[in-house]
Amino acid sequence: MPELLTIKEASKWATNYLKKQVTTSNISYLIQYGRVPRVGNNGNTFVYKEDLLKYYTQNNKTKEERWKDRLGDDLNWTLSFAEYKESETTKHVHRLHPYKGKFIPQLVEYFMDSHTDKFKKEVFFKKGDIVLDPFCGSGTTLVQANELGINAIGVDVSAFNAHISNSKIGKYNLEFIRKTAAEISLKLNTFLKNRNNTIFETELLEELKIFNAKYFPSPEFKYKVRHKEIDEKVYGKEKEKEFLSTYQKLIEKYNIELKQDKAETFLDKWFIKVVRDEIDFVFNEIKKIKDVPTKRILSIVLSRTIRSCRATTHSDLATLLEPQITTYYCKKHGKICKPLFSIDSWWIRYTKDTIKRLEQFDKLRTNTHQICLTGDSRNIDIILELGKRTPKLAKMVKEQKIDGIFSSPPYVGLINYHEQHAYSYDLFGFERKDELEIGPLYKGQGREARESYAKGIAEVLLNSKKYLKDDYDVFLVANDKYGLYPKIAEMANMKIVNQYKRPVLNRVEKDRNAYSEIIFHLKNK
Ligand SMILES: C[S@@+](CC[C@H](N)C(=O)[O-])C[C@H]1O[C@@H](n2cnc3c(N)ncnc32)[C@H](O)[C@@H]1O
Repeated sequence: MPELLTIKEASKWATNYLKKQVTTSNISYLIQYGRVPRVGNNGNTFVYKEDLLKYYTQNNKTKEERWKDRLGDDLNWTLSFAEYKESETTKHVHRLHPYKGKFIPQLVEYFMDSHTDKFKKEVFFKKGDIVLDPFCGSGTTLVQANELGINAIGVDVSAFNAHISNSKIGKYNLEFIRKTAAEISLKLNTFLKNRNNTIFETELLEELKIFNAKYFPSPEFKYKVRHKEIDEKVYGKEKEKEFLSTYQKLIEKYNIELKQDKAETFLDKWFIKVVRDEIDFVFNEIKKIKDVPTKRILSIVLSRTIRSCRATTHSDLATLLEPQITTYYCKKHGKICKPLFSIDSWWIRYTKDTIKRLEQFDKLRTNTHQICLTGDSRNIDIILELGKRTPKLAKMVKEQKIDGIFSSPPYVGLINYHEQHAYSYDLFGFERKDELEIGPLYKGQGREARESYAKGIAEVLLNSKKYLKDDYDVFLVANDKYGLYPKIAEMANMKIVNQYKRPVLNRVEKDRNAYSEIIFHLKNK
């Protein structure tokens, strides 16, 4: 007789079998996404042990080997941090705002903390040191430095990225944030009462629930797609078309305005009219806040909210294609989904989440200095700029100098760092300096782009050296597929003393192929 397991039993069995934690949600995910068939009905769900075993033999067991086959035996699996759950790699303030191109805190910790192991044989940084991240991005280095009792300076050419970083490491009066956010939510609620969009959305959701239960039963539908019993593309399109008439009727019934009058800016193009009105409403309320830190953190909450409310499909959130202003077949969820017609629920959810994350970080933070400056790392005068913002840190840098760098430079032609937050540049009016980005996507990966990239990174290192101690340690995390870093080190008059090749798991991008990056350790020549 094949052995039947409840979800709880399955999680216990899999944990034992794989020798790593497999939660009941992991098992539910496998069922939900059709990886293993469900046995039983709604009330009591079971799986066959054989099905689980088959799944794990095919998928999990050989991940390390499969990756090594593709990327070479020199891959350092310790640096995959595979044992960490998502909640740990996105712990506390690290998930205050989305950001494409972020490294995980565990990687920073590994190189900046005081442990040693068979790969890391020395301790590079200690409490009270100063670290520089000249490509600060969303501030991962700053936050981890704070946790470890290390002072840190970040620089980023994108003003909004610096804003994200400074919001993460800022100190707040959490009670005041809670109170102010609640007041804004209340006003938004009153604003919504005079409009049709929430009642429209409630009715739309009810219709969708009935339709999806009938044509996309879960998890049977996904299981059938996975086992090629249904052609997802054809079926999805057909049902998408079928539902559109219901959608149109509701749009007319509630007189919902979909398109905005203008289509000049990102905010005009990527938001349904009713959503845009709410964004403007909340932004106006935030503008009235007098307390600067509260205003800053609530602007981050609004920015995160509007990013989630762009008129796009669930699978194109990271790479926008075309505005989606109707219901559609969603490949990610295996059913008909809809764009958003109100920011209300996201605003409330993110307000709570932000306060919770700030509280968590508060318990860990040390009394050290961190700041992100906005500027071009090729020529920024760090002491001068620090002097304007935090004279104490400027003095420290002058007197004790910076101990080293931990940073991940942009990779050649991969991401446009300003453009990924176009909505926030539009809304908050930060000045854009796209042309100063090193290696942006829009310049491609051709020979000229690669050369100008190498020159740019070398210039950053040369400029940073002015503030570094002589026996500095520089760590650069890079995907050096064009082998540019030996030349970069040469140009910056540095030598590469070690390289750590790490697998990058849990990537958010659609391309989930085996992928590695190198952590270059450089020192003075
Ligand atoms: C790979 S990201 C860093 C991500 C960061 N480690 C994190 O975890 O969030 C590279 C960053 O370099 C910034 N950048 C590009 N050119 C720059 C320049 N000339 N000066 C300073 N920063 C620059 C980009 O805006 C981007 O935020």
